[in-house]
This record gives sequence, C-alpha cells and structure tokens, in this order.
Amino acid sequence: MRQNEQPSALIMIFGATGDLANRKLFPSLYRLFEKGNLSENFAVIGVARRPLSNEQFQENVKKSVQSAASNEGENIDEFASHFYYHSHDVTDTNSYVFLRDMAAKLDEQYKTMGNRIFYLAMAPEFFGTIAIHLNEDGLTNVAGFKRLVIEKPFGHDLKSAKALNNQIRTAFSEDEIYRIDHYLGKEMVRNIEVIRFANAIFEPLWNNRYISNIQVTSSETLGVEERGRYYENSGALRDMVQNHMLQMVALLAMEPPIKLNTEEIRSEKVKVLRAMRTIKDDKVDKYFVRGQYGEGLINDQKVSGYREEQMVDPQSNTETFVAGKLLIDNFRWAGVPFYIRTGKRMKSKSTKIVIQFKDIPMNLYYKTEQTLNPNLLVIHIQPEEGITLHLNAQKTGNHMNATPVKLSYANTGIDGINTPEAYEKLLYDCMRGDATNFTHWDEVALSWSFVDNISQFWQKTPAQFPNYESGSAGPKESDVLLARDGFYWWPIGDLEVENC
Ligand code: BG6
Repeated sequence: MRQNEQPSALIMIFGATGDLANRKLFPSLYRLFEKGNLSENFAVIGVARRPLSNEQFQENVKKSVQSAASNEGENIDEFASHFYYHSHDVTDTNSYVFLRDMAAKLDEQYKTMGNRIFYLAMAPEFFGTIAIHLNEDGLTNVAGFKRLVIEKPFGHDLKSAKALNNQIRTAFSEDEIYRIDHYLGKEMVRNIEVIRFANAIFEPLWNNRYISNIQVTSSETLGVEERGRYYENSGALRDMVQNHMLQMVALLAMEPPIKLNTEEIRSEKVKVLRAMRTIKDDKVDKYFVRGQYGEGLINDQKVSGYREEQMVDPQSNTETFVAGKLLIDNFRWAGVPFYIRTGKRMKSKSTKIVIQFKDIPMNLYYKTEQTLNPNLLVIHIQPEEGITLHLNAQKTGNHMNATPVKLSYANTGIDGINTPEAYEKLLYDCMRGDATNFTHWDEVALSWSFVDNISQFWQKTPAQFPNYESGSAGPKESDVLLARDGFYWWPIGDLEVENC
C-alpha cells in the first residue's frame, strides 16, 4: 500500500503549541523537507487553543527547527511558509467547520490531492472527541487518503482503550489509524528484525535450546520532571511496559513472518503477545518487582525523591521502576525467561537488549580454574547504537587459557542520538502509508490485558516506597528476581563482560 516516496498531504497537528510538536514534530518534518522526502505539495495546519497568527506560528516553527538543527536550517523560511495556524476549541462544531474550510483552501493551494493526516499530539482525554468531530463535521470526507496518528497513552487500561478505540473507529478504519510507539522508530529497534532474519547464524540458535535468557533494559536518569500529574495516574508499568518494553519483546520473540509486510509482521507479534503467560493475583510478586525512587545522586548532584516531585502525592504508591519476568508459552520459547527492567532516576540512560546463550556442555578449561563467560549478543538501542557479540578466545600465547573478546559494530547515527530521528522515520512511514512500525489494535489490547492484571494487584496492595536510591540500579528485589533462576542482570551502562 505504499504511496510514492515524496508524498503530498495536508497535515493537521492538534497540540501544535505543545512540547512534542516543538521538540520532535517540527524538526522531523524539516529534516524530511531538507532531504527531499517531502514533496513541495504539503501544508501543515497547527491546531491548538491559544490564539496565534500564522506569522507567529511560523516563527515558533522556525525556532523549534533551529534549536534542534545541527546546521543553520537553510531554506527554513521556505519550509515555514507551508505552516498555518488555527486557534481551536476541541468541543465546538463551528471551530471544526472553520478548520474544514481552511483545509479545503489549502488542499487546493498546495495540490495535496486531498490527502490528509490528522496528528493528535495533545492530552489524551480529547482524542475521542476530536475523532468524532472530524467525522461529523466533514473533515475526513476527502478525495485522497485520510490517516489518524495518535500518540500514547492509548487508554489507561483495556476498558478505556476499548472505549477510545470505538470512538476513533467511527471516523477511521483500522488501517487508517497509526498508533505511535516511538520505540518502533528507533534505528536499532527496527534492526532487531534484520539482525534476526538476514543472518544465517542467529536464527538457528534463536530458541530455548540455545538461549538461556533474554534481558531488556531501558533505564533513565531523568525523574518525572514536570509530568507528575500524568505520571501519578500512569506509573512505569503503563508508561513504559505496556508499550515500549512489550513491543521490543514481541520483536525479539516473534516467528519469522512469511513476508516482510505490515500484516504478516503484526500478526507474528500478536501471536507472541497471545502466548505470554498471564500473571495475576498472588503470582504477581513472584514475577514482578516495582520500585519508586528516593533521593540520591545523579552525576554527583543531589536529587529529590519521587514523592517530593511537583504534582506528586507525598504518600504516592506509584511505581517509577518495574522489573518483570515474562514467559512465552510456545514451542520456541518454553522455559526461557524474558526479563524486562525499566526505571527513572537510575544510574545511566541506556536501552539495551542482552541475549544470553546457554553454557557450553562442558568446560575444557577447568584445569586453569576458569569459569567461561557465556556468549552474549548485545543490541545497543541507545545512547550508543550497535551490536556486540561476546565470545571467548585464546589468551595470547597460552592455549590453555580462554579470554573474553568482543566483536562490535557501532551504528553511529546522526549525532549519535536517535530522537527525534525516530519521529522523522515514523512520520515518513505514515505519509507513505506504511503502518508496520505502528501498533495494531490487537497488540494494544493484548498488552493492556497483560498489564491490567499486574496493575490491579498493585493497586490493592500498597508498596514499601521509596525502595531505591536515585542513581542506583533499582531495588534489590529486582536482583533477587533473577537470582532465583540462577541469573543476574548484565550491567546497565557499559557492558564489560570481564568485570562481571
Ligand atoms: C515515553 C515515556 O513514552 O518514553 C517517558 O512517556 C519516557 O516517561 C520516554 O521518559 C523514554 O523514551 P526514550 O526515547 O528517551 O527512551
């Protein structure tokens, strides 16, 4: 269903004065424009509540691009001239009618072929209302394609996600809905598929005969910053596990699709989520650990605990850390734990996947009292991007000694950091009609039903918080989770096998 590679469209960004639009969307659109991946036939209507003129809005767009760009932002005036603004009331039909007429003029002026993208980059409570109005007030009645891009959170639990889905389905069909999970725009997350399916050496080993466990860690040094209000109702389980972490697990665990197209890839991911063992009630404590940061040191600076953050309840029971053990009950993965771990205010910012292979059947190097390190395949998602294969080789000059060696490939992306490029790729995918790296409703629903069991149990049972210091690797119980299975977490930051 790919369109041409230089798509034309009118893009309406709801929430155009917000953080996401300014930090990610405008710079990403600019990069597409600069690289020639956006045709001249595009226009953007920024939609938000506050009154702004087109000129003021264009100035904002330029500022946001300039503060993100590594160059001076040549042709920025030309780029910004494609931007228009509408001060909008999301509940008022008249405001939509005005927007409809404005869009029709711009369609004509920019020859967008009636293609429209509606990007909801704003408070989720309005997602449903906007979708319904877009339909009822005629904005989705177009000659070309119409697509809805929707940011997370997609609901708060399965029930609310279903309600939201029903609302947006009144205006858009499933294949017109692009649910963003920005991890699916990250270069190395996309690379999982290629590493697995374009190499003969991994796939034969990619199962419970050769892999002992898989660890997926996404740690942050930042706290909740100014997002306390949102985070209090979310916590790390809903904020990171329901989407990003489970998406990475699905990509790691899925069967090779029969074709690399949207339907086949999504359908294999869905099967993984369906095979995930349900964890509920008294099992939750055995499989999942939650944490909340207390005060501590980050880069030698003292930082306060979660309960002292703005808009946070001083008695808050919200988790800022989650570690869990997932089991995928199918032939390929039976018996292989997938450990996931994510937290705020941890000792470093790092997202990494470690695939640990089983030990060799016997150690021929026992005479020198060496314990051989297991083979590891490490996929570095961020901040560094690349893969490392950890092997054992001969210590120079002594064939009785084995020493760990690493084969590394560093995929140094632009600036070494892959946001906002993640958004750039996702926007481009959406414009070309490629929904592979967006989440299908079935994936969303299955992820919520898995996570709901855990959050319901946690809600009933208050935790002993805070239970980890800022700047640490999370609560001790997270180490115990693996120790019970005879494993341990590979370090969060630099993964030096020698030091473990
Ligand atoms: C977002 C969460 O989805 O992902 C944030 O809402 C989190 O709380 C962020 O900080 C992490 O993204 P990244 O790309 O920095 O790993």
